[in-house]
Amino acid sequence: MAQIIPVEFCRHDSSVAQVWARVPEEPSPEQRVELKARIRRLLKQQDATLMAHYYVHPDLQDLAEETGGCVADSLEMARFGRAQSSRTLVICGVRFMGETAKILSPDKRVLVPDLEANCSLDLACPADEFGEFCDAHPGRTVVVYANTSTAVKARADWMVTSAIGLKLVEHLHRRGEKLIWAPDRHLGQYIREQTGADMLLWRGACVVHDEFKSYELEALKREHPRAKVLAHPESPDAVLRLADVIGSTGQLIKAARELPDTEFIVATDNGILHQMRKASPGKLFLEAPTAGNGATCKSCAHCPWMAMNGLANLAHVLETGVNEIQVDAGLGRRAYRCIDRMLEFAAQLNAPAPTGDLARDRKLYANGMGPA
Ligand code: 13P
Ligand code: SF4
Repeated sequence: MAQIIPVEFCRHDSSVAQVWARVPEEPSPEQRVELKARIRRLLKQQDATLMAHYYVHPDLQDLAEETGGCVADSLEMARFGRAQSSRTLVICGVRFMGETAKILSPDKRVLVPDLEANCSLDLACPADEFGEFCDAHPGRTVVVYANTSTAVKARADWMVTSAIGLKLVEHLHRRGEKLIWAPDRHLGQYIREQTGADMLLWRGACVVHDEFKSYELEALKREHPRAKVLAHPESPDAVLRLADVIGSTGQLIKAARELPDTEFIVATDNGILHQMRKASPGKLFLEAPTAGNGATCKSCAHCPWMAMNGLANLAHVLETGVNEIQVDAGLGRRAYRCIDRMLEFAAQLNAPAPTGDLARDRKLYANGMGPA
């Protein structure tokens, strides 16, 4: 039986909307073994590649790795999906990740465990309202985050992910372009501050990162004075100011593995801790504090929509072929341009390796140059 969780998110006009997420029950140990074996068999039978985001359940991350798929951030998921020769891609993440895979590989079948796995950034940026916003500010280059619908991407000049947003805006700013940025206001504000670019910001926020609290983080830092803070740039400004490394999920995992420090406080979805602990078993990883004691699901540091991916619904879609991602062909073709452009730009970036020197590395990551 799945559990239905109510989720509140903020719209562009600051009003609050209520939606829900359907989170599957944890299987028993026996069911896990049986489901994993069944999924392995089905992936082979169906010529399917499994891709998982760092925020989904550890079982799904491990399965993706063990079966030759990938566990990655959203930039790498887009790159990896396009490069596969298999007929089917199965995406454990949220819907925009499935749509991006389909737009980049329209001839492939793209399946997801639950088609309702959404994202508060996507929900807070309806294509019609966003189109009006763009119409009201002509002459600006439109840069949208990956966490948007196909229709919003179809309206954009560029798509970016958190791994590359700063670098791309720096490049556009140097060319003298003025920008519209959507939908994450924290990431937009961070990039605007770092680059000095002229950016009009849409006012969306991530329900997970928006909950991290700077005053509680300061208290945790006092308890763990040696800990370095790793933060995703969807976190509020006051949290980012306390961070030693700011980066995409992939960049944060790399920093945790390669920096010499042994204690880290991590301000992003706690699904990421699985890879951090696997890569560095001797290091201590602590979750950054959210709303604290009164914590509800809203402040549990885990994305309710990422939690909709489970072993049972994954096996079900592979068996039945349900939950196939469909993208309108015309919109998909228009959206393709802004994604392809980003991948081209990413390919041209010469990403230097981290040095292990924290002061220098922090600057490197903050400049969007840390390797994904
Ligand atoms: P990444 O691009 O860093 O994987 O982030 C995706 C996301 O949804 C973060 O909340
Ligand atoms: Fe969207 Fe936040 Fe979930 Fe990422 S963690 S998918 S930004 S709601």
